[in-house]
Amino acid sequence: MAKSKTQYYCQNCGAQFPKWMGKCSNCGEWNTIAEEAVSKNEPDKPWRSQNDKNPVLFNIQDIPAGQETRIITQNQELNRVLGGGLVLGSVILLGGEPGIGKSTLLLQVALQFNDLKVLYVSGEESASQIKLRAERLGIETDSCFVLTETQTHKIFKKAKEIQPHLLIIDSVQTLQSQLVESSPGSVSQIRESTSELIHFAKETNVPVVLVGHITKEGSIAGPKVLEHMVDVVLQFEGERNHLYRLLRAQKNRFGSTAELGIFEMQGNGLREVSNPSEVLISAKDHTLSGNAIAATMEGIRPMLIEIQALVSTAVYGTPQRSTTGFDIKRLNMLLAVLEKRAGFQLGAKDVFLNITGGIRVDDPAIDLAVICAILSSYENQALPDNCCFAAEVGLSGEIRPVNRVEQRVLEAEKLGYDVIFISKYNKINPGDFQIRVELLGTVGDLYRLMF
Ligand code: TYD
Ligand code: MG
Repeated sequence: MAKSKTQYYCQNCGAQFPKWMGKCSNCGEWNTIAEEAVSKNEPDKPWRSQNDKNPVLFNIQDIPAGQETRIITQNQELNRVLGGGLVLGSVILLGGEPGIGKSTLLLQVALQFNDLKVLYVSGEESASQIKLRAERLGIETDSCFVLTETQTHKIFKKAKEIQPHLLIIDSVQTLQSQLVESSPGSVSQIRESTSELIHFAKETNVPVVLVGHITKEGSIAGPKVLEHMVDVVLQFEGERNHLYRLLRAQKNRFGSTAELGIFEMQGNGLREVSNPSEVLISAKDHTLSGNAIAATMEGIRPMLIEIQALVSTAVYGTPQRSTTGFDIKRLNMLLAVLEKRAGFQLGAKDVFLNITGGIRVDDPAIDLAVICAILSSYENQALPDNCCFAAEVGLSGEIRPVNRVEQRVLEAEKLGYDVIFISKYNKINPGDFQIRVELLGTVGDLYRLMF
C-alpha cells in the first residue's frame, strides 16, 4: 500500500504550506488553501525512457542554432499569435472563460491539420458530442483521432500507438495522474499532469496544446501555476455577447507577445478576421457626434478602431466615468489634461467611453482619438468622417509622437481616409503619402483645427 501524505496548497497560486491558514501569504487570497493527498510511491513514469542518461553538457558556442522547427497550421491568426506556427516539442496553454470557444478553436485546428495526425483528448465531452461539433464545423478529415480519457498514463499509451503530430488536451483540469492522489482539478494534480505532458512533449517533439479553465471564484485552480511551466500562454477572450473573439499571447518563449488574433464566432465555427479595420469600424453615420477613428497597432499589424464618447451633464453630485476597452485611469488623466491645459469644464460631466467591437486597447496612440471623441461629444459636433488620429497626449497637453507611424498612416491611406492627425514631433515627411498628414503640437491646436 502506498504511504500517503497530505500537504496544503493554495488553489489560486499553487503555493505549498505545511499547515492550513485562512489567508495565502503568497498571493493574499482568502480561503483558498486546501489539503491535498500526495502519494509517495513513484511508479515508472510512462513517458520516460528507461535508462537514466548521463546529463550532457554543452558549450553555448557548440549548440546548433535555428533548430526550432514549426508546424504551420491552416489557421493564420493562430500562427501569427504563436509567432509563426507550432514549435515542435512546445507546450501551449490556452486559457479562457467557459463558453468563449476554446474547444471550438482547437477542434477546428485539429480538423484542418490535413495530412498530419492529431490526437484530440477530451475529458469533458463524449466522442459523439465532439462528432456533433465537427459536423457543425463542416470540415472532413481522416487524420484526427479522438480519445475521451483523463488518466495521463493511458493518454501517453495511446499517443505512443498513434504517434500524432499534435496532441490536444481539453482540458488540463480534468487530467488525472497516477502519481498524485488528489482529485482532478486540484493544484498538485494539475501540476503533476502538466509536468508529465511537458516531458512527453520534450521527449517526443510533439507539440501539446492544453486547454485551461479560468474561474473567477478560484474554486478550480486557475491555470496560474501552469503559466511558469509551459512555453506559451494564450488567452482567448472577448465579450460573450459580442461576435469577436481575441486571441493573445501572454507569454511566448518563441515569439512576440504583442500579436493579436481576431476571430468571429459564427454558426459554423470561428472565422478568421484577417482585415480587422473593416469590421471594427461600425457603419458610420455622418451626423453623430462623439465618434473618432484611431489608427492603432496590435503587434506589427496596424488596425483602425472606432472610439465613441458620450459627455453629458451629471445627474448626481459625483460625475460618472465609465469605459469599455480602455483604461479608466488613462481616461481620467486625459480629462484632467483637457480641463487644466485647454480649459474645458468637464468636472461636472459624466463621461462614457467605448471602443467598438468589444476589444481592449492599450496602445497610447489612441489618446488623440479619445480626446477628439470627447470634445466632439462635448461640443455636440460630429467630426468629418474621413479623418483619423494617431498620437499620444502628454500631461502638459502636448501631442507626442508614436512608434511605427508610417505603418499607421499607410493603413489609413489604404482604407480610404483623407486625413490623419499625428504629432509634429514624428519624423516623417507628409509629402511621401497620398493621404493628407496633419501635424499637431498641442491639444489647443487640435481644437482650433477641428471645431
Ligand atoms: P466552446 O468551444 O464549447 O467553448 P469553451 O470550450 O471555451 O467552453 O464554444 C462555446 C460557444 O460557441 C457555444 O456557446 C456555442 C458557440 N458556437 C457557435 O456559435 N458556433 C459554432 O460553430 C460552435 C461549434 C460553437
Ligand atoms: Mg470546452
